[in-house]
Amino acid sequence: MSFAFRLFPAAGDDMRADVLAGLAASPKAIPPKYFYDDAGCRLFESICAQPEYALYRTEQALMRERIGDIAAAVGEVDCIIEPGAGDCIKVRRLVDALRPGHLVSLDIAGAPLAAAAEALAHDYSGLAVTALGMDFIHDLEAAAPHLPPGKRLVYYPGSSIGNFPPDAATTLLARFRRLAGPGSQLLIGFDLRKDPLLLHAAYNDAAGVTAAFNLNLLARINRELDANFDLSRFRHYAFYNPTAGRIEVHLVSLAEQAVTVAGQRFRFNCGETLLTEYSYKFVPREFDALALAAGWQSKAGWEREGFAVRLYG
Ligand code: TRP
Repeated sequence: MSFAFRLFPAAGDDMRADVLAGLAASPKAIPPKYFYDDAGCRLFESICAQPEYALYRTEQALMRERIGDIAAAVGEVDCIIEPGAGDCIKVRRLVDALRPGHLVSLDIAGAPLAAAAEALAHDYSGLAVTALGMDFIHDLEAAAPHLPPGKRLVYYPGSSIGNFPPDAATTLLARFRRLAGPGSQLLIGFDLRKDPLLLHAAYNDAAGVTAAFNLNLLARINRELDANFDLSRFRHYAFYNPTAGRIEVHLVSLAEQAVTVAGQRFRFNCGETLLTEYSYKFVPREFDALALAAGWQSKAGWEREGFAVRLYG
């Protein structure tokens, strides 16, 4: 087996600066990448198991049923690059079908990534696995020296691209293209616009897991940035905005209150929001235009129950 892990530094300092800047902004906002501490990763896995959150299961079903067509469309690949690989479960199906020589997995949650990628390396003797614990939104280009030569496929499943506003999404896809180089391909998943009540339910599960996930961000900031958010005085509030085509995830202050974070004081009015995530939903043709602006030409696409996977080159 061949396995290498590299942890990139600096995420801690970035978090402090990002959170302080976000709390000073208007409206207050915190980048969603900070959801994923150990508890956040576990809660996210639990979201994916909730009956209302069809997105994960639908993508898995699509990949299971169409993997033959997808592999045929992709063709020969030497290296799969997966930003945001998480538990490295999804990529296994692609590795089975494409049999690349190398897999490069990137994730901001370094320790869980290392464990998952090493387990994967154990299971695939012919596969060289490189796990990079990094904030790829910040440090993507630092992955370049770890990429083997040959035909590369960037795999970005799960609709994470929807968590970026359109301009930022285009910029990220352009960076993927620059990293992967000429002749590379992009296999990407995204959620489609659909019945707003279905979308609303997906981010307001009855068991309250999404609410716990959202509030966990404040618990993490309390712990890691010496803050004193009172979690009982913030409400998880998520809704679909059909004009913008996005789910908006907020934490709304239930009282006038002051919070101290890393020695700085921030005031919240009663009803004031802290924006924690957008999750854009797309029309396939509009997504093609977004990808094209990043230099990616549409090659093939598959859809199932309001979810799309598309291939670009
Ligand atoms: N980013 C994913 C999505 O847009 C994950 C997610 C699901 C999520 N539910 C959430 C992120 C609630 C923040 C809040 O579907």
